[in-house]
Amino acid sequence: MAVSSSFAGPKLETLLLCNNSSSTSSRASPSQIRILCKPARTRRTVFQRGVGLNPRCEVTSDVLVQDNNKIELRASSVSALEQLKTSAADRYTKERSSIVVIGLSIHTTPVEMREKLAIPEAEWPRAIGELCNLNHIEEAAVLSTCNRMEIYVVALSQHRGVKEVTEWMSKTSGIPVSELCQHRFLLYNNDATQHIFEVSAGLDSLVLGEGQILAQVKQVVKIGQGVVGFGRNISGLFKHAITVGKRVRTETNIAAGAVSVSSAAVELALLKLPESSHASARMLVIGAGKMGKLVIKHLVAKGCTKMVVVNRSEERVSAIQEELKGVEITYKPLTEMLTCAGEADVVFTSTASETLLFTKEHVKDLPPVVGNPRLFVDISVPRNISACVSELDTARVYNVDDLKEVVAANKEDRVRKAMEAQAIIAEESKQFEAWRDSLETVPTIKKLRAYAERIRVAELDKCLSKMGDDITKKTRKAVDDLSRGIVNKLLHGPMQHLRCDGSDSRT
Ligand SMILES: NC(=O)c1ccc[n+]([C@@H]2O[C@H](COP(=O)([O-])OP(=O)(O)OC[C@H]3O[C@@H](n4cnc5c(N)ncnc54)[C@H](OP(=O)(O)O)[C@@H]3O)[C@@H](O)[C@H]2O)c1
Repeated sequence: MAVSSSFAGPKLETLLLCNNSSSTSSRASPSQIRILCKPARTRRTVFQRGVGLNPRCEVTSDVLVQDNNKIELRASSVSALEQLKTSAADRYTKERSSIVVIGLSIHTTPVEMREKLAIPEAEWPRAIGELCNLNHIEEAAVLSTCNRMEIYVVALSQHRGVKEVTEWMSKTSGIPVSELCQHRFLLYNNDATQHIFEVSAGLDSLVLGEGQILAQVKQVVKIGQGVVGFGRNISGLFKHAITVGKRVRTETNIAAGAVSVSSAAVELALLKLPESSHASARMLVIGAGKMGKLVIKHLVAKGCTKMVVVNRSEERVSAIQEELKGVEITYKPLTEMLTCAGEADVVFTSTASETLLFTKEHVKDLPPVVGNPRLFVDISVPRNISACVSELDTARVYNVDDLKEVVAANKEDRVRKAMEAQAIIAEESKQFEAWRDSLETVPTIKKLRAYAERIRVAELDKCLSKMGDDITKKTRKAVDDLSRGIVNKLLHGPMQHLRCDGSDSRT
């Protein structure tokens, strides 16, 4: 008789779990065993709402035992929450955790708030540790750039995870939760995946397709390596985001002619300067890191051949001088910063200083620029120039949010380029989901195979011993093959079901 390989009855693994559970507790009654077989969702709800309110909401026979209408909560060293956290990753024994992003970006949040939320790279491992100590957070990553502060987590409960992370952000930044809630965006699972892929591709940047964001995403992975809490889902997500960022830049036009925050800063300064003074304006760049160097290069590209660069240390400036031999770059230490500012028409600041470099008092005392206010363009987050400086008639201050003015142009081009990239992002999101799914199904597949194999071998032994010793090798092999064939046919349907990544509509 032909045996159909499709599996139509109750889920085989559910039956197996019932079987396993019953064998672990001799005190579980048949009704309790039935409850044990409830889908994971029910069990999870029990943990969240508090065990003990309803005698039927049994979690496992180890946790709760019903005896003469009395509910006895078994003393267990591991809390229900801990059990939920440490239970094996298995899609039929545990509800899948969610990937959640809690973010505040340049699109939703002003720089005044973003700078309070910013976490320097050196602090990311500590932040990951603190986030993973929250009750409902399993894994975490921090993406803190001048454009965004985004926390990526794997949360046991979306609602509680978001609440805990928001409270943590409030504690670290000093911004009240209510204010954070007004500006934050929340994305879950597929939407969160798609978001980080778009971010990495430069689609969510102020300057479409800019390359720095991909470097920053890479930095998250580099710093996260070996940090407990930068777990396999989150690290997998960020590594996949790097692949997407590279693919989008090589397979589409997005990076063609792409500028950076630094070049936008230079554009903005030139926009604000009277055209007649473009060639003669005295330029001062404070900070010679990645951004400072780009500012210098864009100034050079715009025809500037002479400038002063102030930096904490001289090494980086020397390297830039070496690279840009035809340009007259004068190095000055930070101690001479105010004097240099007094001799400049335009001051760019791009340092990683946590404290202000220019206050209103500093700028008030600077000799004024003849004919025009002095321009300060600050692309640092946290900002290097106090917002109060803009109250002075002698100064105009622009920060990273003001760059929107120069990048808003070319909107149609942005939309077209973004559409090209979206097809790649959709394809990669699907692949990532399939990978994540496989993380959870592999243990189930292994367990199911091992369980079936144990039964097959036991039944085969029984059968062969009944047949006696005088059977031929050929008959022995035929019986063995028969047992394997039956098991494989029976498992085929459930295995296919477990392996599917949801892309097959028949499943
Ligand atoms: N990377 C980006 O894509 C990007 C984009 C837009 C804005 N920004 C912002 O631009 C700023 C600089 O970023 P970056 O990527 O250029 O960083 P970076 O490559 O790490 O360079 C940091 C710069 O800041 C200086 N610095 C560090 N601590 C300082 C302190 N306490 N006082 C004075 N100077 C200090 C460093 O001087 P030394 O050379 O002496 O170490 C160096 O010049 C940051 O605020 C960042 O948020 C970055």
